[in-house]
Amino acid sequence: MNKIFVPPIKSQGIKTKLVPWIMRVLQFDQNGTWIEPFMGTGVVGFNVRPKNALFSDLNPHIINFYNAIKRSQITARLARRFLETEGDALAKEGMDYYYEVRDRFNRNNDPLDFLFLSRSCFNGMIRFNSKGGFNVPFCHKRDRFSKSYITKIVNQIEYVHKAIQVNNWQFECGDFRQLIKDATSRDFIYCDPPYFGRHVDYYNSWAEEDERDLFLCLRSSKAKFILSTWHSNPFRHNISVEKYWRNFTLLTKDHFYHVGAKEKNRNPVKEALVINYRPAEAAQERTYARKPEQMALLEKPVRFPLTKGVKRPS
Ligand SMILES: C[S@@+](CC[C@H](N)C(=O)[O-])C[C@H]1O[C@@H](n2cnc3c(N)ncnc32)[C@H](O)[C@@H]1O
Repeated sequence: MNKIFVPPIKSQGIKTKLVPWIMRVLQFDQNGTWIEPFMGTGVVGFNVRPKNALFSDLNPHIINFYNAIKRSQITARLARRFLETEGDALAKEGMDYYYEVRDRFNRNNDPLDFLFLSRSCFNGMIRFNSKGGFNVPFCHKRDRFSKSYITKIVNQIEYVHKAIQVNNWQFECGDFRQLIKDATSRDFIYCDPPYFGRHVDYYNSWAEEDERDLFLCLRSSKAKFILSTWHSNPFRHNISVEKYWRNFTLLTKDHFYHVGAKEKNRNPVKEALVINYRPAEAAQERTYARKPEQMALLEKPVRFPLTKGVKRPS
């Protein structure tokens, strides 16, 4: 596959590294609509480059940002000028300026300020407090917006701007439930919800009830889907996989998340793709099929310890 496009807004859950894998198992003929109810940075859909797409997220700031690009309120030229001016101010005033922009964003919700914060906050995180205020601290690099860094961001904006002009891409703020219900058999749904039992913030809480509703929506959908989730790490396994997703095709892959730059801070996690069809790649991966006797297992099946009290939904 060609070089992976990295979007202008960052996020801790970004699936850049998983894009090639997802693309290999994708079965989408581009006739229907690409539906991405948990768009986050949008890295997966932006690389699929569908003709018709519905990108959605509960976080309105992400959606406002892309709608501003769509309406040409944010263009490459405007973004460059903005980042140069704000980057100069950051270089002069340092941390205080970052927090000034953060306060300004929390008052006015300007999408360009959101971009500034996303590219100068700690670890490129997106996190909002219980009142809906962006609360990620500064990355402590006052020279963050170098010429080359600004050019990189501006090119990312240009890529999305051009893609929006030649395709039919909608950006909507909302909950996944309605979006999935409206999908037809020609559409393809890619879901990457917050991971159950992981970090929680204003737009990213994920309860058992959400996982169950997602299961019910996807199970009754006529569209093909891929759901990204985590399978296990050295300490725990994801009981939702056993409880909700075991009757679908399950592919897994080892992945390392880096927390900081040190080698010892590589956290291994087994990522999973839950799929409601049988992709060619399934032949090379560990997979569950619908029934044990149909299991085309080429490696050992993924075994879960029996978890007390876990009831399968009917
Ligand atoms: C794991 S992130 C998606 C990451 C994305 N695939 C990427 O690579 O950047 C999950 C996203 O789901 C959104 N979200 C959380 N609850 C939601 C809900 N009930 N409906 C729609 N979106 C939701 C969050 O705002 C967040 O952007």
